[in-house]
Amino acid sequence: MVEKPAQMTLFGVPATVTEVAADATLPPAVANGPLSAANELPAAASPDILVPGQEGFFGVRATRAEALASLAARARECRRCGLREGCRGVVFGEGDPDSGIVFLGEAPGAVEDELGRPFVGQAGQLLDRILLAVGFRREQVYITNTALCRPPGNRAPLPEETAACRPWFEERLAVLQPSIIVCLGASAGRNLLGPEFGITRDRGRWYSFGQAKLMATFHPAALLRDPAKKRPVWEDLKAVRAEWTRFRSEPEAARSGGRPIPPGN
Ligand code: URA
Repeated sequence: MVEKPAQMTLFGVPATVTEVAADATLPPAVANGPLSAANELPAAASPDILVPGQEGFFGVRATRAEALASLAARARECRRCGLREGCRGVVFGEGDPDSGIVFLGEAPGAVEDELGRPFVGQAGQLLDRILLAVGFRREQVYITNTALCRPPGNRAPLPEETAACRPWFEERLAVLQPSIIVCLGASAGRNLLGPEFGITRDRGRWYSFGQAKLMATFHPAALLRDPAKKRPVWEDLKAVRAEWTRFRSEPEAARSGGRPIPPGN
């Protein structure tokens, strides 16, 4: 049973979530095309990562939240690119690490840098409303960015900066094991699917990314500039929500990601 959304007016259409038939086959065009080169995950996390479900030094199994907290502590020390010098701090990510779904933006802006939380400025408030419109509370999903530090003057992160941040993304993903990744905007889409990715052409389709299914949609900031983009985002996120509902209702063994921590933590 899908929750009734609290916010009904965002898209100017009734916000009841309709079940979209789950599409088991991924559209082959881009997944098998030139974008696939970047579309790989490392087989395993780096050896020093605290892996959820594995026994640590004290013989206690780490939860995902604990594994993320240990990763965040290491990320806060990162100086792999120059961004950290010019910002207040690392904006690591937040939300439910066991949700099985990750929303990925570009980089923190001024408000995010100030508060140390992703998507809390104007675009973030719109993201909250978009999520509610398809039946997600913000804290029900996991939200993060491809670059963890704010670029000066809110410019887009440079390719070398997102490349420097990529190992943190891969480690986050190894901990979160999401079933679904949603790229918010062209930058996140290019980052994960490769330089050929075009948001207008390639949004709204399912791709395969490691164990997860991935969809990209327009960034909420793009909706602020161009309200005509609300309708496609609404369609994309309805499909995301339906897929997430499907994953959640499947037997655990059949899920590709978002796996529960083994009992006995
Ligand atoms: N835009 C992003 O891409 N990420 C944020 O956290 C805020 C705005």
